[in-house]
Amino acid sequence: MTDTVFVLNGPNLNLLGTREPEIYGSATLADIEADLRGQADTLGLAIDFRQTNHEGELVDWLHEAQREGAKAVLLNAAAYTHTSIALLDACRAITVPVIEVHLSDPTTREDFRHVSYVGMAAADCVQGLGARSYAVALDKAAAL
Ligand code: DQA
Repeated sequence: MTDTVFVLNGPNLNLLGTREPEIYGSATLADIEADLRGQADTLGLAIDFRQTNHEGELVDWLHEAQREGAKAVLLNAAAYTHTSIALLDACRAITVPVIEVHLSDPTTREDFRHVSYVGMAAADCVQGLGARSYAVALDKAAAL
């Protein structure tokens, strides 16, 4: 196992900062990445931080996390959280612990966000804390 934590972000998260700021806050994904890198340095961890709008790419990256012997994956699969059996299967197919992350709290939003396929395979979940969800998830990953 390496000290690398994969931080994988799904669709529309590239628009953070301008995307529905009343729900997701004003931090951009680059802001979140910068903060996480500082925290990771303090924790003695390395971060592999990525974003894609494509479901299959997230599947490929979960496989890569396994191949690379990642310590953990922080996964904000965004809308694919609620639709993707492929991501559920990928999370189940790897032994690297996956921590589900959301800026908002999907359980308090529309009904269609109440199902989490990622959550069916995730070791843990941090949601509803805005950008801080990532920081809390990284602390959890460090403690694994
Ligand atoms: C999200 C919550 C999802 O329901 C939504 O589709 C997103 C972002 C979050 O971080 O709060 O795109 O994952």
